[in-house]
Amino acid sequence: MDKMNILVIGSGGREHAIIRKLMQSPKCGKIYCTPGNGGIAADGAECFSVGATDIDGVVKLAKEVKADLVVVAPDDPLVLGMVDALQAEGFKTFGPKKAAAIIEGSKVFSKNLMKKYGIPTAAYEVFDNSKDAIAYVKKQNTYPAVIKADGLALGKGVILAQNEAEAVEAIKEMIDGRKFGDSSATVVVEEYLTGPEVSVLAFTDGKTVKPMISSMDHKRAYDNDEGLNTGGMGTVAPNPYYTSDVAAECMEKIFMPTINAMNAEGRTFEGCLYFGLMITPKGPKVIEYNCRFGDPETQVVLPMLDGDLLEIMLAVYDHRLADIDIKWHVGACTCVVMASGGYPLSYPKGLEITGLDEKGQLDCAEIFHAGTKLSEGKLLTNGGRVLGVTCRGSNLSDAVNSAYHAVKKIHFENAHYRKDIGQKALKALFDPSQFDYKQDLEDYLEENGIYIRQ
Ligand code: AMP
Ligand code: GLY
Repeated sequence: MDKMNILVIGSGGREHAIIRKLMQSPKCGKIYCTPGNGGIAADGAECFSVGATDIDGVVKLAKEVKADLVVVAPDDPLVLGMVDALQAEGFKTFGPKKAAAIIEGSKVFSKNLMKKYGIPTAAYEVFDNSKDAIAYVKKQNTYPAVIKADGLALGKGVILAQNEAEAVEAIKEMIDGRKFGDSSATVVVEEYLTGPEVSVLAFTDGKTVKPMISSMDHKRAYDNDEGLNTGGMGTVAPNPYYTSDVAAECMEKIFMPTINAMNAEGRTFEGCLYFGLMITPKGPKVIEYNCRFGDPETQVVLPMLDGDLLEIMLAVYDHRLADIDIKWHVGACTCVVMASGGYPLSYPKGLEITGLDEKGQLDCAEIFHAGTKLSEGKLLTNGGRVLGVTCRGSNLSDAVNSAYHAVKKIHFENAHYRKDIGQKALKALFDPSQFDYKQDLEDYLEENGIYIRQ
């Protein structure tokens, strides 16, 4: 069998999880990554210093390493058209082209798409002048008011304004102050929805959509969902709120309609499409689309994949996803993110990490590196989110316990992590009133091999 050289673009825990899984494939030859990180390098992937948004640099690198497949993981290069540039040079790729990546790159585009094709989402209006936006918010007079920058804003472009003053300030900062540059020249003001959130990543080749195991992110910095929004402080999979009934409803009303809508617009989506969902009292609705694997969702989803990620990526590229059977391990997975004290605001870099072996791993967990670098044989912190400590278990509570057991073995100055990753999911599991139907809960427990000890 011919082995394939693979180049992965990106540098976080998500990219580490993708690389780990690709390395398990018998077809995987050499793995290259740019920019990569300390843990990715320790796993044997050769890392380069070409930036993740440097399209010309990445095309040149793909030629140099003779890449048989290039996986573009982060949002910005996808939205900028890195896949188009690579395909124009004859490379096989994983990730959507620019025309499809706009589903994440512009909230105005994605909201208009959902409206046009009847895909359930929060009601909204679009504004490019602050006077009209403020007048609209005042007229609505319901809080929290949700204000979103149109374009990419490093995950910080959503403001949940608790009162009129906050809403007015957010609108002025975004439209008049260009808080996120051109990304916030236009804003979406939308209805506030309530309900548990579910992340569903899905493989799609534009014809078939195959959802992966569901997951739950923990976005706030501190326990009990307090503190600032972050890139994600931990995840669990599967998400107990994503019952088989909810999954069926999502497939019928959201997933397939989205794939069909993108085709109808001449923007066929090929890659991993991320559905950020809220299970509202009126059924599941789309909060956001991402045009890529989620971070840190990928760190719990891919370890649960009982199969060959490289084969799946090639099937997506060749439009034969329908022919592939994708299996998932039973049980559950938990990822606890260890961050630098101060994150998501300012934090130091270059602190020594101890407790891990020479490959930056532990034998009782999978350690996905996010902000680390190797320097003179030492592993140092190099970012806000430093490590994703990940364990599978036969059920969610085992996975949570194992992950925290592993976290306690790892040290760096002022390490910060949430102590309650998985608690919301565990409560939902053991409180049947959280489910609409008792049957949902029973199905969920059976499907996931979970037994409640009496
Ligand atoms: P986004 O970047 O679009 O995922 O939004 C970030 C977070 O803001 C989401 O994970 C939700 O918790 C919250 N959010 C976004 N839109 C809404 C909405 N319409 N109603 C309530 N919460 C929302
Ligand atoms: N975890 C949310 C995201 O990847 O955008």
